[in-house]
Amino acid sequence: MSQYPLSDLTFKSLSEGEEIPYSLLLLADPSKEMIDGYLGPSQIYIAEQGGKIVGTMVLQPLGNNLIEIKNIAVLEELQGKGIGKYLIENAIQIAREMKMRYIQIGTANSSIGQLYLYQKMGFEIEGVKRNYFTDNYMEKIYENGIEAKHMIMLVKLL
Ligand code: COA
Repeated sequence: MSQYPLSDLTFKSLSEGEEIPYSLLLLADPSKEMIDGYLGPSQIYIAEQGGKIVGTMVLQPLGNNLIEIKNIAVLEELQGKGIGKYLIENAIQIAREMKMRYIQIGTANSSIGQLYLYQKMGFEIEGVKRNYFTDNYMEKIYENGIEAKHMIMLVKLL
């Protein structure tokens, strides 16, 4: 990990009326329709540095003491510097403050780096939503030379 200064990062929830950071959200989810579908019952959070939004995350409580990270994204030019880890640490802290028992995140079978990051942060594979991407997205999605077909669900006990 490079010596990128994370100390001046600030984290906050997006207030009603503030601009939704779609360009970031679309990095994690190429469908605006899907994003709009889960924003309603969710809270959007942003990480800022020097007044600029550098990352975002969407949390949605699902009931039964379970909360899901529905979207997480970092500006392309700042990826790999610890901001994603910082966002997930904040998600875990918020979930604990909300007295949640589990936090979950879903990612594609092709998202190798994300599967690495989430497992390194204590999430464990809980299940697979087979054909989630082929059933819900018009366009085929490829990452790392692999077609994104299935959603791998990972859960961390809080
Ligand atoms: N490939 C390989 N390793 C990756 C990786 C990737 N795509 N993304 C993260 N990692 C690793 C880092 O190397 C680092 O490892 P280390 O702790 O051993 O050094 C660790 O995960 C933490 O990485 P970090 O710098 O905090 O991640 P990030 O700031 O790049 O944020 C994402 C991670 C996924 C949010 C970010 O890369 C992103 O916005 N990607 C595009 C959108 C996306 O795919 N969102 C997730 C959808 S499920």
